[in-house]
Amino acid sequence: MSEKGLSRRDFLVSAGTYTASALASGGVIGAFTPAAAMAAPALPWPYAALDPQTVGEAAYNNYYVGGCMYAVGASIVNALVTAGAANWDTFNPDFFKMGGGGISGWGTVCGSPNGACAVIQMIAGSSAAAIINELMGWYCNEPFPSTKFDAIAKYAVNQPTTVAKSPLCHQSSGIWAYTTGNRIGSNNRKDRCAKLAGDVAYKTVEMLNAWQAGTFAPTLAAPDYQSDTNFERCFTCHVGADTKYDNAQGKMNCLTNGCHSDKTTHHL
Ligand code: HEC
Repeated sequence: MSEKGLSRRDFLVSAGTYTASALASGGVIGAFTPAAAMAAPALPWPYAALDPQTVGEAAYNNYYVGGCMYAVGASIVNALVTAGAANWDTFNPDFFKMGGGGISGWGTVCGSPNGACAVIQMIAGSSAAAIINELMGWYCNEPFPSTKFDAIAKYAVNQPTTVAKSPLCHQSSGIWAYTTGNRIGSNNRKDRCAKLAGDVAYKTVEMLNAWQAGTFAPTLAAPDYQSDTNFERCFTCHVGADTKYDNAQGKMNCLTNGCHSDKTTHHL
Protein backbone atom coordinates (compact mmCIF):
# COMPACT_ATOMS: atom_id res chain seq x y z
CA MET A 1 0.00 0.00 0.00
CA SER A 2 1.35 3.43 -0.96
CA GLU A 3 0.33 6.91 0.14
CA LYS A 4 1.26 8.29 -3.27
CA GLY A 5 -1.63 9.92 -5.10
CA LEU A 6 -3.80 10.07 -2.01
CA SER A 7 -4.69 13.18 -0.06
CA ARG A 8 -3.77 13.12 3.62
CA ARG A 9 -7.42 12.54 4.54
CA ASP A 10 -7.89 9.70 2.00
CA PHE A 11 -4.69 8.17 3.27
CA LEU A 12 -5.81 8.29 6.89
CA VAL A 13 -9.19 6.79 5.96
CA SER A 14 -7.66 3.94 3.97
CA ALA A 15 -4.94 3.43 6.59
CA GLY A 16 -7.68 3.10 9.22
CA THR A 17 -9.52 0.58 7.05
CA TYR A 18 -6.33 -1.36 6.57
CA THR A 19 -5.63 -1.49 10.30
CA ALA A 20 -9.20 -2.55 11.07
CA SER A 21 -9.17 -5.32 8.47
CA ALA A 22 -5.70 -6.45 9.52
CA LEU A 23 -6.94 -6.77 13.09
CA ALA A 24 -10.14 -8.55 11.99
CA SER A 25 -8.20 -11.08 9.98
CA GLY A 26 -5.72 -11.64 12.79
CA GLY A 27 -3.00 -9.71 10.99
CA VAL A 28 0.14 -8.48 12.69
CA ILE A 29 -0.95 -5.87 15.22
CA GLY A 30 1.17 -2.76 15.08
CA ALA A 31 2.82 -3.67 11.80
CA PHE A 32 1.20 -0.61 10.28
CA THR A 33 -0.49 2.21 12.18
CA PRO A 34 -1.52 5.61 10.85
CA ALA A 35 0.14 7.30 13.83
CA ALA A 36 3.52 5.87 13.00
CA ALA A 37 3.14 6.52 9.30
CA MET A 38 2.05 10.15 9.42
CA ALA A 39 3.71 12.82 11.53
CA ALA A 40 1.93 16.16 12.00
CA PRO A 41 3.32 18.81 9.63
CA ALA A 42 5.95 20.87 11.44
CA LEU A 43 5.11 24.47 12.37
CA PRO A 44 5.04 27.19 11.16
CA TRP A 45 2.33 26.61 8.57
CA PRO A 46 1.96 28.75 5.44
CA TYR A 47 -0.02 31.97 5.45
CA ALA A 48 -1.94 33.51 2.56
CA ALA A 49 -2.95 37.18 2.62
CA LEU A 50 -6.61 37.49 3.67
CA ASP A 51 -9.25 40.21 3.60
CA PRO A 52 -9.73 41.58 7.15
CA GLN A 53 -13.38 42.60 6.69
CA THR A 54 -14.38 39.22 5.17
CA VAL A 55 -12.68 37.26 7.95
CA GLY A 56 -14.09 39.65 10.56
CA GLU A 57 -17.63 39.09 9.25
CA ALA A 58 -17.09 35.33 9.37
CA ALA A 59 -15.91 35.71 12.97
CA TYR A 60 -19.01 37.73 13.84
CA ASN A 61 -21.21 34.92 12.46
CA ASN A 62 -19.12 32.09 13.92
CA TYR A 63 -19.49 33.58 17.39
CA TYR A 64 -23.06 32.31 17.28
CA VAL A 65 -21.84 28.85 16.17
CA GLY A 66 -19.11 28.10 18.71
CA GLY A 67 -18.32 31.08 20.95
CA CYS A 68 -15.61 33.73 20.85
CA MET A 69 -12.40 31.67 20.57
CA TYR A 70 -14.02 29.54 17.87
CA ALA A 71 -15.24 32.70 16.13
CA VAL A 72 -11.73 34.04 15.60
CA GLY A 73 -9.81 30.76 15.27
CA ALA A 74 -12.19 28.98 12.90
CA SER A 75 -12.68 32.04 10.70
CA ILE A 76 -8.96 32.47 10.07
CA VAL A 77 -8.35 28.71 9.63
CA ASN A 78 -11.31 28.34 7.24
CA ALA A 79 -10.18 31.38 5.23
CA LEU A 80 -6.68 29.90 4.91
CA VAL A 81 -8.15 26.59 3.68
CA THR A 82 -10.20 28.50 1.10
CA ALA A 83 -7.11 30.49 0.08
CA GLY A 84 -5.27 27.20 -0.50
CA ALA A 85 -2.62 27.57 2.21
CA ALA A 86 -1.14 24.12 2.86
CA ASN A 87 -1.87 21.99 5.96
CA TRP A 88 -4.82 23.99 7.28
CA ASP A 89 -7.34 21.42 6.00
CA THR A 90 -5.86 18.94 8.50
CA PHE A 91 -6.74 21.18 11.48
CA ASN A 92 -10.20 20.78 12.99
CA PRO A 93 -11.37 24.21 14.23
CA ASP A 94 -13.79 22.59 16.70
CA PHE A 95 -10.71 22.62 18.93
CA PHE A 96 -11.37 26.32 19.54
CA LYS A 97 -14.72 25.69 21.21
CA MET A 98 -12.97 25.23 24.55
CA GLY A 99 -12.16 28.95 24.79
CA GLY A 100 -15.65 30.47 24.96
CA GLY A 101 -16.38 32.78 27.91
CA GLY A 102 -12.73 32.91 28.93
CA ILE A 103 -12.20 29.10 28.74
CA SER A 104 -15.41 27.17 29.36
CA GLY A 105 -16.99 30.15 31.07
CA TRP A 106 -14.22 30.76 33.62
CA GLY A 107 -13.81 34.40 32.61
CA THR A 108 -10.03 34.13 32.22
CA VAL A 109 -8.36 35.16 28.95
CA CYS A 110 -10.91 36.47 26.41
CA GLY A 111 -11.45 33.76 23.79
CA SER A 112 -11.10 36.14 20.85
CA PRO A 113 -7.41 36.95 21.42
CA ASN A 114 -6.87 33.38 22.65
CA GLY A 115 -7.98 32.00 19.25
CA ALA A 116 -6.02 34.66 17.41
CA CYS A 117 -2.84 33.98 19.38
CA ALA A 118 -3.05 30.23 18.72
CA VAL A 119 -3.25 30.86 14.99
CA ILE A 120 -0.50 33.52 15.08
CA GLN A 121 1.75 31.04 16.89
CA MET A 122 1.11 28.43 14.19
CA ILE A 123 1.97 30.89 11.41
CA ALA A 124 4.56 33.43 12.43
CA GLY A 125 7.45 31.38 13.85
CA SER A 126 10.00 33.59 15.56
CA SER A 127 7.82 36.69 14.99
CA ALA A 128 4.83 35.17 16.80
CA ALA A 129 5.64 36.58 20.24
CA ALA A 130 5.92 40.14 18.94
CA ILE A 131 2.62 39.92 17.04
CA ILE A 132 0.87 38.31 20.02
CA ASN A 133 2.22 41.01 22.32
CA GLU A 134 0.92 43.69 19.99
CA LEU A 135 -2.52 42.07 19.82
CA MET A 136 -2.84 41.67 23.59
CA GLY A 137 -1.68 45.24 24.26
CA TRP A 138 -4.02 46.61 21.59
CA TYR A 139 -6.94 44.63 23.05
CA CYS A 140 -6.44 46.19 26.50
CA ASN A 141 -6.77 49.73 25.15
CA GLU A 142 -9.30 49.36 22.33
CA PRO A 143 -12.89 50.62 22.73
CA PHE A 144 -15.04 47.58 21.85
CA PRO A 145 -17.16 46.95 19.89
CA SER A 146 -16.55 48.86 16.65
CA THR A 147 -19.32 49.47 14.13
CA LYS A 148 -17.49 47.44 11.41
CA PHE A 149 -20.07 44.63 11.61
CA ASP A 150 -23.22 46.64 12.19
CA ALA A 151 -24.40 45.93 8.65
CA ILE A 152 -24.72 42.20 9.48
CA ALA A 153 -25.54 42.55 13.18
CA LYS A 154 -28.31 40.30 14.51
CA TYR A 155 -29.42 42.29 17.56
CA ALA A 156 -27.91 45.77 17.88
CA VAL A 157 -26.09 48.55 16.04
CA ASN A 158 -24.06 51.51 17.28
CA GLN A 159 -23.49 49.90 20.64
CA PRO A 160 -21.76 51.84 23.42
CA THR A 161 -18.07 50.97 23.82
CA THR A 162 -15.85 50.30 26.81
CA VAL A 163 -12.10 49.78 27.26
CA ALA A 164 -11.24 46.65 29.27
CA LYS A 165 -7.70 47.66 30.33
CA SER A 166 -7.14 43.92 30.54
CA PRO A 167 -7.25 40.87 28.24
CA LEU A 168 -9.52 39.02 30.67
CA CYS A 169 -13.06 38.02 29.70
CA HIS A 170 -14.27 38.78 33.22
CA GLN A 171 -13.23 42.42 32.92
CA SER A 172 -13.88 42.90 29.21
CA SER A 173 -17.47 41.61 29.28
CA GLY A 174 -18.17 42.66 32.87
CA ILE A 175 -17.14 46.31 32.47
CA TRP A 176 -19.19 46.53 29.30
CA ALA A 177 -22.25 44.94 30.91
CA TYR A 178 -22.00 47.05 34.06
CA THR A 179 -21.32 50.34 32.26
CA THR A 180 -24.06 49.89 29.67
CA GLY A 181 -26.64 48.33 31.98
CA ASN A 182 -26.88 45.07 30.02
CA ARG A 183 -27.04 41.60 31.51
CA ILE A 184 -24.34 39.09 30.50
CA GLY A 185 -27.17 36.80 29.34
CA SER A 186 -28.67 39.46 27.05
CA ASN A 187 -28.60 39.39 23.26
CA ASN A 188 -27.05 42.86 23.37
CA ARG A 189 -24.04 41.52 25.29
CA LYS A 190 -23.72 38.55 22.96
CA ASP A 191 -23.78 40.88 19.97
CA ARG A 192 -21.11 43.04 21.60
CA CYS A 193 -18.86 39.99 22.01
CA ALA A 194 -19.61 38.75 18.47
CA LYS A 195 -18.53 42.15 17.11
CA LEU A 196 -15.48 42.12 19.37
CA ALA A 197 -14.57 38.73 17.84
CA GLY A 198 -14.91 40.36 14.41
CA ASP A 199 -12.70 43.26 15.52
CA VAL A 200 -10.02 40.89 16.86
CA ALA A 201 -10.08 38.75 13.69
CA TYR A 202 -9.82 41.93 11.59
CA LYS A 203 -6.83 43.20 13.57
CA THR A 204 -5.13 39.79 13.48
CA VAL A 205 -5.47 39.47 9.71
CA GLU A 206 -4.21 43.04 9.26
CA MET A 207 -1.12 42.24 11.33
CA LEU A 208 -0.46 38.87 9.64
CA ASN A 209 -0.82 40.49 6.20
CA ALA A 210 1.70 43.14 7.23
CA TRP A 211 4.04 40.54 8.72
CA GLN A 212 3.95 38.52 5.50
CA ALA A 213 4.59 41.66 3.45
CA GLY A 214 7.55 42.52 5.70
CA THR A 215 5.93 45.70 7.00
CA PHE A 216 4.76 44.62 10.46
CA ALA A 217 6.10 47.12 12.98
CA PRO A 218 5.07 46.68 16.62
CA THR A 219 3.89 49.89 18.23
CA LEU A 220 3.30 48.52 21.71
CA ALA A 221 6.39 46.37 22.23
CA ALA A 222 7.01 45.75 25.92
CA PRO A 223 8.02 47.58 27.98
CA ASP A 224 6.78 50.65 26.05
CA TYR A 225 3.12 49.91 26.63
CA GLN A 226 3.81 49.48 30.34
CA SER A 227 5.13 52.98 30.67
CA ASP A 228 2.34 54.40 32.81
CA THR A 229 2.74 54.38 36.54
CA ASN A 230 0.13 51.69 37.07
CA PHE A 231 2.66 49.22 35.74
CA GLU A 232 5.96 50.87 36.31
CA ARG A 233 5.64 51.66 39.96
CA CYS A 234 4.94 48.04 40.79
CA PHE A 235 7.03 46.27 38.19
CA THR A 236 10.24 47.87 39.39
CA CYS A 237 10.11 45.79 42.58
CA HIS A 238 8.00 42.76 41.66
CA VAL A 239 8.27 41.77 37.98
CA GLY A 240 11.41 40.66 36.18
CA ALA A 241 14.56 38.67 36.93
CA ASP A 242 16.57 41.82 37.63
CA THR A 243 14.12 43.31 40.16
CA LYS A 244 14.62 43.11 43.91
CA TYR A 245 11.86 40.59 44.62
CA ASP A 246 11.04 38.99 41.22
CA ASN A 247 7.92 37.43 42.76
CA ALA A 248 5.14 38.20 40.26
CA GLN A 249 4.72 37.76 36.53
CA GLY A 250 2.47 39.32 33.94
CA LYS A 251 2.13 42.29 31.61
CA MET A 252 -1.20 43.53 32.90
CA ASN A 253 -1.96 46.85 34.52
CA CYS A 254 -1.81 46.39 38.32
CA LEU A 255 -4.12 49.19 39.42
CA THR A 256 -6.86 49.80 36.86
CA ASN A 257 -10.09 47.89 37.40
CA GLY A 258 -9.29 48.00 41.12
CA CYS A 259 -7.40 44.71 41.22
CA HIS A 260 -4.56 45.95 43.43
CA SER A 261 -5.82 49.43 44.24
CA ASP A 262 -5.22 48.71 47.93
CA LYS A 263 -1.51 48.94 47.02
CA THR A 264 -1.63 52.38 45.40
CA THR A 265 0.50 53.98 48.11
CA HIS A 266 2.30 50.81 49.14
CA HIS A 267 6.09 51.20 49.48
CA LEU A 268 6.06 54.71 48.06
C1 HEC B 1 9.84 49.56 46.54
C2 HEC B 1 9.48 48.18 46.24
C3 HEC B 1 8.02 47.89 45.99
C4 HEC B 1 7.18 48.51 45.10
C5 HEC B 1 7.49 49.66 44.16
C6 HEC B 1 5.94 47.81 45.17
N1 HEC B 1 6.00 46.81 46.08
FE1 HEC B 1 4.57 45.43 46.49
N2 HEC B 1 5.73 44.56 47.92
C7 HEC B 1 6.99 45.01 48.26
C8 HEC B 1 7.43 44.26 49.43
C9 HEC B 1 8.77 44.45 50.15
C10 HEC B 1 6.39 43.35 49.78
C11 HEC B 1 6.37 42.39 50.97
C12 HEC B 1 5.24 42.63 51.93
C13 HEC B 1 5.01 44.08 52.26
O1 HEC B 1 5.91 44.77 52.76
O2 HEC B 1 3.85 44.55 52.04
C14 HEC B 1 5.35 43.57 48.79
C15 HEC B 1 4.19 42.84 48.73
C16 HEC B 1 3.18 43.02 47.77
C17 HEC B 1 2.02 42.18 47.63
C18 HEC B 1 1.70 40.90 48.40
C19 HEC B 1 1.52 41.07 49.87
C20 HEC B 1 0.36 41.92 50.26
O3 HEC B 1 0.57 42.81 51.10
O4 HEC B 1 -0.75 41.75 49.72
C21 HEC B 1 1.29 42.68 46.60
C22 HEC B 1 -0.03 42.15 46.05
C23 HEC B 1 1.99 43.87 46.13
N3 HEC B 1 3.15 44.01 46.84
C24 HEC B 1 1.54 44.66 45.08
C25 HEC B 1 2.19 45.81 44.65
C26 HEC B 1 1.63 46.75 43.69
C27 HEC B 1 0.28 46.58 43.01
C28 HEC B 1 2.54 47.72 43.50
C29 HEC B 1 2.42 48.95 42.60
C30 HEC B 1 1.35 49.86 42.92
C31 HEC B 1 3.68 47.39 44.35
N4 HEC B 1 3.41 46.26 45.05
C32 HEC B 1 4.83 48.15 44.40
C33 HEC B 1 7.72 45.98 47.60
C34 HEC B 1 7.25 46.83 46.62
